[in-house]
Amino acid sequence: MAKWTYSDKVKDHFMNPRNILREDNEADFHGIGQTGNIKCGDEMIVYIKVDPADLTITECKWRTYGCASAIASTSILSEMVIGMTLDQAYAITAKDILKELGGLPDNKVHCSVLGDKALRAAIDDYYGKNGMEDRIKTQSA
Ligand code: FES
Ligand code: FES
Repeated sequence: MAKWTYSDKVKDHFMNPRNILREDNEADFHGIGQTGNIKCGDEMIVYIKVDPADLTITECKWRTYGCASAIASTSILSEMVIGMTLDQAYAITAKDILKELGGLPDNKVHCSVLGDKALRAAIDDYYGKNGMEDRIKTQSA
């Protein structure tokens, strides 16, 4: 039987999403990654600021056309990555996000991969813009 309920944490992050990019200041960010969800056609863009001294993420913003689950997943992801190194952030999986959210309804699990995919694209974008092309992994967006 499919699970239909949303956890309180999912509801909280959907109703009060953290770190949405509201201003038109994309140029202030060091890495930008965009991806689409093949299952539903929704889009996600993630913007990161990076401290070049230790390659840690200092800011993570995002925008999406995605659904409630995608919004909650990316909202929580944008909080999780602050202070992480680019390597640590790159390694975050949909499973990690689901754990943090307290799960998602079964038919909404695919929505949780949108934010982390866009984040990896943003990290690769940062590497590309900063002469670290050798660190770019193949993007499966
Ligand atoms: Fe409309 Fe996901 S595309 S709910
Ligand atoms: Fe499209 Fe959830 S249905 S991201």
